[in-house]
Amino acid sequence: MRNYNISIIKGDGIGPEIVDEAIKVLNAVAKKCDFTLSYKEYLMGGIAIDTTGVPLPDETVEGVLNSDACLFGAIGGEKWDTLPRELRPETGLLKFREKMGVYANLRPAIVYDELVNASTLKPEVISGCDIMVVRELIGGIYFGQPRENDGFKAFNTMVYTKPEIIRIGKTAFELARKRSKRVCSVDKANVLEVSQLWRDTMNELSKDYPDVELSHMYVDNAAMQLVRNPKQFDVIVTGNIFGDILSDTASMVVGSIGLLPSASTGDKTAIYEPIHGSAPDIAGLGITNPIATILSAAMMLKYTLNEEKASDLIEQAIKDALKDGYRTKDLAAFDAKEVLNCVAMGDKIVEYINKYKF
Ligand code: IPM
Ligand code: MN
Repeated sequence: MRNYNISIIKGDGIGPEIVDEAIKVLNAVAKKCDFTLSYKEYLMGGIAIDTTGVPLPDETVEGVLNSDACLFGAIGGEKWDTLPRELRPETGLLKFREKMGVYANLRPAIVYDELVNASTLKPEVISGCDIMVVRELIGGIYFGQPRENDGFKAFNTMVYTKPEIIRIGKTAFELARKRSKRVCSVDKANVLEVSQLWRDTMNELSKDYPDVELSHMYVDNAAMQLVRNPKQFDVIVTGNIFGDILSDTASMVVGSIGLLPSASTGDKTAIYEPIHGSAPDIAGLGITNPIATILSAAMMLKYTLNEEKASDLIEQAIKDALKDGYRTKDLAAFDAKEVLNCVAMGDKIVEYINKYKF
C-alpha cells in the first residue's frame, strides 16, 4: 500500500484546531482511496520559542526536509510580538520557507456558487471567479540585503536576479497551461529597476510559451482591477511583497479568508498552509473555520502526492457541505442552515466523504 510521510506543524493560536480537522479529513480519504499517511509533529513559531528558545528549531528543518510534504497551521501572537526581530515567530516562518527552498507560493481564489453572497462584492462581479496567485516566496524585499534600522534611518532592499524571475515565471506559465492559458505579471516597472528586469525577463520567457497569453499590470492598477473585475484574471504572477498584498485582496473577492488554502513549492519539499494567520483572539472558542486548512491538505494530495482522486473527494465534500447550508460562524450570515463549530465541520466533511460511492 502507498504510504506517505507527512510532517505536521500546528503552530500557535488556532493552528492546532485547524490542523487536527485537516488530519481527520486526510485519514478519511486515505482509507477510501487505499493509501496510508504517517504523521510526525514538529515545533515552529511561538510554541517553539516557549519550548526551545528559538522560533525554528533545527529538528523541524531536518524533519520537514525528510518528509514527503508538510502540513502547517499558523504561527504568531501578541505574546511574542515584543521579542527582538530575529526571535519572532514570523522570522522563524521566513527562515523556514527559505531553508525549504519553497520559492513558489500558489494561492488559489475560487468563488463557490454556494457562497456567492458571502463576498462584499456584488454576486455578478465575482460569480465563477477562479484566480491563481503565484507569489515568489523566498526573494524580493523580504530577504534582500542590506537591511537595517538604526532608529533614525531604516531601509530594506528589493532585489531579484534573472534566474529567480525565470524560475517563478516557469511555474506560472506551466500552471496557466493547465488552466485558461493567461498569465498576468504584476510589477511596478514604471518606478522600480527590479520590476523592469522582472518585466523584461517575463517577456523573454513567454517566447517559450507561445500558447499562453502574457500581459503586464502595475501593482496599483492590479489592486484596483481585482476588486473592479476579478474575473479578468487567470494566473497572476508577482514578487514576494506584491503577492502578499494582492493575495489578501483576492481572498476578499471570495468572501472569507477562512476558505483560502495555499501551497508553497520548490525543488526540495512543499508546505501546505491556509493563507490566514493564527487568530489568537478566537483560538479555542470552537468558531474557527477549518476549510482553508482542509483545502490545503487537498492541494497537498494533488500537487505533491499525486493522489488526485482523494483530493477531488475532499473538494467535493466541502462543496456539498456548503451547498447543504453547513457553515462555520464566519459564514453564518450567508444562507446557513446550520452553524457548526470547528470540530463539527471537520466531522461533517468526513461524513460526506464516507457517503460517496465510486
Ligand atoms: C503570509 C503572511 C506572512 C507573509 C507573514 C506572517 C510573515 O502574511 O503568509 O501571507 O508576509 O508572508
Ligand atoms: Mn500575508
